[in-house]
Amino acid sequence: MKTILITGATSGIGYALAKYYAKDGVRLILTGRNADRLQDIISVCRDQGAEVHGAMMDVRARDIMSPWLVDMDRRFQINLAIANAGVSGGTGISADGTDDEDERQLREIFDVNVNGVLNTVAPLLNRMRERGIGQIALMSSLASFSAWPTAPAYAASKATVRIYGESIRGAYKKDGVKINVICPGFIKTPMTDVNPYKMPFLMDADKAAAIIAKGLEKDKARIAFPWPTYAFAGFIGLLPASWALGLLSFFPKKPARTK
Ligand SMILES: NC(=O)c1ccc[n+]([C@@H]2O[C@H](COP(=O)([O-])OP(=O)(O)OC[C@H]3O[C@@H](n4cnc5c(N)ncnc54)[C@H](OP(=O)(O)O)[C@@H]3O)[C@@H](O)[C@H]2O)c1
Repeated sequence: MKTILITGATSGIGYALAKYYAKDGVRLILTGRNADRLQDIISVCRDQGAEVHGAMMDVRARDIMSPWLVDMDRRFQINLAIANAGVSGGTGISADGTDDEDERQLREIFDVNVNGVLNTVAPLLNRMRERGIGQIALMSSLASFSAWPTAPAYAASKATVRIYGESIRGAYKKDGVKINVICPGFIKTPMTDVNPYKMPFLMDADKAAAIIAKGLEKDKARIAFPWPTYAFAGFIGLLPASWALGLLSFFPKKPARTK
């Protein structure tokens, strides 16, 4: 039986990934904070034939995450862990009138997107290295390729995750552990539903989940898509900083997180 852990499975891409993998012979370990949505995805996956274990878990709570992950891994030997949970926010005006990126938002984004990912990866990485097999996927973004004045903390958090993920792929390949970094463009989820602007090549979450799963199956170092957005992000990343900033400052601002 294949055991797959997905953090942030209660919504969007994580939810779609859980549905994609759910079938006979698969054991899913799903987390999120919203009890109703967690129950919903557990039921959906059980109906599709998977064995499902759900846990309400805040990825920032290292003291709880670490022993729980070790316990799950001891019981089930996790084959694939997808550190997906994340939040976003920018320097624009949100629905409740919040404007700009204050320290609360900056720290929340780093806590969830960076510390939350590390809290998921670290306890499992050591155990997988010890047994010489396993796979860990870290959720970054195409936003990781540039310094976005429209969403500074989000872009920086995703850049951190991408560089860390690609670095440990190189460091621990010899130990038999596969590490993959996922860099999606715009995917239609509650995270992007708040954006008051047209998003180029916006993709359905189920389609994104299928692309991600196929990339993981092939053990791709970087699963970046859709390609036109990836090409644009890569091009901006190659420009001198002042040119890139000049160009990116014309883009609409991502709304700040609501209070
Ligand atoms: N949508 C896009 O266009 C896009 C593009 C590139 C990368 N991404 C990345 O993909 C990942 C999923 O995003 P999404 O679009 O699917 O967003 P989403 O629909 O808002 O889902 C975010 C998920 O993360 C969970 N989460 C948030 N904070 C958490 C915390 N402190 N502890 C535990 N779980 C937490 C949420 O669970 P609860 O609500 O239950 O807490 C939810 O399941 C994120 O890392 C995001 O940055 C998204």
